[in-house]
Amino acid sequence: MYQFITGLPKVELHLHIEGSLEPELMFKLAQRNNIEIPFANPDEVREAYDFSNLQSFLDIYYQGAQVLITERDFYDLTWAYMLRCKADNVLHAELFFDPQTHTARGISFDTVMKGLTNALADAEAQLGISSQLILCFLRHLDEASAFDTLQQAQLWKDSIVAVGLDSSEVGHPPEKFARVFAAARKQGYLAVAHAGEEGPSSNITDALDILQVSRIDHGVRCVDDPQLVSRLIEEKVHLTVCPLSNTKLKVFQSMEQHTIVDLLRQGVSVGINADDPAYFGGYMNDNFTAVACAHTLSQKELGQFTCNAIDASFCGLERKLELHQQLQAYMDSQ
Ligand code: ADE
Ligand code: ZN
Repeated sequence: MYQFITGLPKVELHLHIEGSLEPELMFKLAQRNNIEIPFANPDEVREAYDFSNLQSFLDIYYQGAQVLITERDFYDLTWAYMLRCKADNVLHAELFFDPQTHTARGISFDTVMKGLTNALADAEAQLGISSQLILCFLRHLDEASAFDTLQQAQLWKDSIVAVGLDSSEVGHPPEKFARVFAAARKQGYLAVAHAGEEGPSSNITDALDILQVSRIDHGVRCVDDPQLVSRLIEEKVHLTVCPLSNTKLKVFQSMEQHTIVDLLRQGVSVGINADDPAYFGGYMNDNFTAVACAHTLSQKELGQFTCNAIDASFCGLERKLELHQQLQAYMDSQ
């Protein structure tokens, strides 16, 4: 099974680039930029990654991102992630980035975008991996800050396919950003939102109805509302599920209790993603393996996760066809 997963073509649709900052790179950047971090070595950083819920993770995650200062830092971060994609046979990746985490510290939107887009262009040319960028608004900040961020994105509009919504879900429901999402969609962006991770299933319904998102990030709390599950199936709404994230943040107490396989078998379009791999102990292959170890899955079912992600991706039709062909060729060879 492990061999099958290693060779399986994959598409990642839920990855926070700041969450791919490995402790070793965090240390290197801290030294390069003369920034003090409250850890003596990378092992100490890893020991601190013991989370009780989403907020306990976010506090450490925003702290870690403070070592990212220059365009080169953002390039190195993104390039390191794309190398991991290559190792895990990820053929297409859609990356979230959180501009407010950086602009609030005086780092310019341009600095972030130049580093990210140059690394992604090099990854396409040298590694053959296609990608898209999704600008996420931090939902614990206010509407005005989100509007300001949307304005700053104007010059980079052609490099950003969609807007998203992340950070602390409880207490910050989708309707808080109704007007920002309406403005973004009017400008031509697609939309996604984290919903139903820790928050109630009504956040999923509201993200669909109010924010008019094309897909839902996490969405695992949909199981609390059978009518919503039927709607997701009928409307072919894709859920970008992140199994290791969900167990590390105690959304599920164990991988055995994770509902991703039930949802797949009911006909919900679910995919497997890493979320914040440097913090949750694994990239794509680790996430696939963790699910396959806890649940009995056929090769066809494992391939279905990739098939669903290809259909839900924001890449062009031609690239989608190529990805489907590569997946089919692999399945046929097994
Ligand atoms: N930002 C990074 N990872 C996140 C997650 N899993 N949920 C909400 N916001 C995030
Ligand atoms: Zn996420």
